[in-house]
Amino acid sequence: MCGIIGYVGKKSASPILLEGLRRLEYRGYDSAGVAVLGNATLVVRKKLGKIDEGIARLLKAEPVHGSLGIAHTRWATHGAPADKNSHPHFDQSEKIAVVHNGVIENYDSLKQKLLATGHKFKSDTDTEVLAHLIGEHYHKRKTGNRKPETGNELAAAVSDALREVIGTYGLAVICTDFPDTIIGARRGSPLIIGIGKGEHFLASDANAIVAHTKKVVYLNDYDVATITPERFEVSNLGTDTANVQISNLEFSHEDVGRGKFAHFMLKEIFEQPQTVANALRGRLDFEGATAKFGGLNMTAAELRHVDRIVIAASGTSWHAALVGEYLIEELAQIPVEVEFAHEFCYRNCPLEKNTVLLVLSQSGETADTLAALREAKRRGHRALAIVNVVGSTIARESDGGIYMHAGPEIGVASTKAFVSTITVLSLLAVHLGRLRQLSANRATEILRGLEALPKQLEKILAQNDALNKLAKKYAKAEDFFFLGRGYSFPIALEGALKLKEISYIHAEGYSAAEMKHGPIALIDAKTPTVFLVPQDAMYDKTMANLAMIRARKGPIIALATEGDKQIKKVADDVIYLPKTLEPLNPILASVPLQLFAYHIALARGCDVDKPRNLAKSVTVQ
Ligand code: M6R
Repeated sequence: MCGIIGYVGKKSASPILLEGLRRLEYRGYDSAGVAVLGNATLVVRKKLGKIDEGIARLLKAEPVHGSLGIAHTRWATHGAPADKNSHPHFDQSEKIAVVHNGVIENYDSLKQKLLATGHKFKSDTDTEVLAHLIGEHYHKRKTGNRKPETGNELAAAVSDALREVIGTYGLAVICTDFPDTIIGARRGSPLIIGIGKGEHFLASDANAIVAHTKKVVYLNDYDVATITPERFEVSNLGTDTANVQISNLEFSHEDVGRGKFAHFMLKEIFEQPQTVANALRGRLDFEGATAKFGGLNMTAAELRHVDRIVIAASGTSWHAALVGEYLIEELAQIPVEVEFAHEFCYRNCPLEKNTVLLVLSQSGETADTLAALREAKRRGHRALAIVNVVGSTIARESDGGIYMHAGPEIGVASTKAFVSTITVLSLLAVHLGRLRQLSANRATEILRGLEALPKQLEKILAQNDALNKLAKKYAKAEDFFFLGRGYSFPIALEGALKLKEISYIHAEGYSAAEMKHGPIALIDAKTPTVFLVPQDAMYDKTMANLAMIRARKGPIIALATEGDKQIKKVADDVIYLPKTLEPLNPILASVPLQLFAYHIALARGCDVDKPRNLAKSVTVQ
């Protein structure tokens, strides 16, 4: 949510910043801007709209020159999307420029104080208040009111300002008095340093800089970093020394490109045979009839003592959590509760001694989910995580966890990460089950089922053209239902979410059984229902629910198991899925729903990779 890149070195900053912004655009695309410092002159360019139509055109018409700069792509929080609210923002003297991710919660009281001392503001943003506050401290220090603490007055002024701030920030600051220095700081919003040869970078995520360097330092909360072409330094506002570790990025810049695909979303849907194989790699233990993991950081004895698991997540990851609940309860017989991360944090629910919190997050940066993790830890509970982005805040703050290894997910609509999360949850359920009552035979059956998934996913992807045709047939509908029971219920929720977020069609996911208790009133000949009817234990009951929709003339698109002839007689259209075990159906059923949503969105002329009002990775609460 909002993206930051900064560069200092010997090259021209502008093309590096622009390319970085393109890589970060999935984090927000309301507006974008750059500030470049060259020959002691600070030039800011900013523009409303997506990168290519906005800032890229502006920079072409009015180029900026210099080898130090910061840039930002915005997802609006305070202040509507507009040129004036775009970052970078200046301080009062216009010597300092700031880009910022996060929310300054006490910005209004800070602004009132600054207004009282003569500051004038040009935007409606909290970031401009922060820029003025930094400027205020900087000028006080320069006029000798306070002694520099770090030898670098700019870093010291940023630190002074941040001590007054309540809220979250990932930020980059430059000043005309320091033509080779960028200051970065973080609290609650990710920020990394990229280490190059004779150059350094700051970025809110590694995608923006992986083309230049794979050596990075993940900053921790309250860290304040100073980067110049030759060095970087990190101090911490809360402790005497900062904990600085250099890590290597595990992906390359090819992984963050679209390749031969028209959209990131399509590319990521098609990657799923591979990403599922990645999630399984090295974890299927046929000899022990179990799944194995490296990083759970809990002994078998400790895991046996877990008597309740709370899974907290947001959005699509919350749907994955529901699948996890069914899997763990069935296979391991451990009671599971699924919580929206934001609800878990603030409702003070009872947590028994041996309760473990498990959080799920693709980005590892979702503010609500991170807050849930911290809350569980604050209350003395073990907090595990299933995360995709290596080195993300949730990955680093959890007590143990499992990586998905799905590679960068750029499409704002999560696809491959959802499927990888439920693949990992299936493995975890087997692992926990084997420490309790799950038989070796049943576990082996599930491991075999998991092993077969990549090939089965290929078969589903081969139906892409048919799904495109189907999508065109239904693209004009204004309302949709997605229905399923048992393991298919969370997938119905996820199918509906995918459709609404990228096509803006109103879609409701519901339990096929619950429909008759009210929502069935909405069914008519113009409201199609996507019915998930795999041949599982719920088949007959789901078919009975389907008949109720049919009787009310609702068009039916069924997702059924290969070989099911019965379904053809009652559905208008059928998509067949390979046969798998009931607990693994969600993995297969997710993929045609992703493709269906993708093609409907395209047919309606929507920008699938940049759906309106959304951004990848929501780092505000
Ligand atoms: O990165 P996370 O998995 O924590 O993200 C959670 C949600 O914000 C995310 O799944 C969101 O719902 C996506 N837009 C879904 O496609």
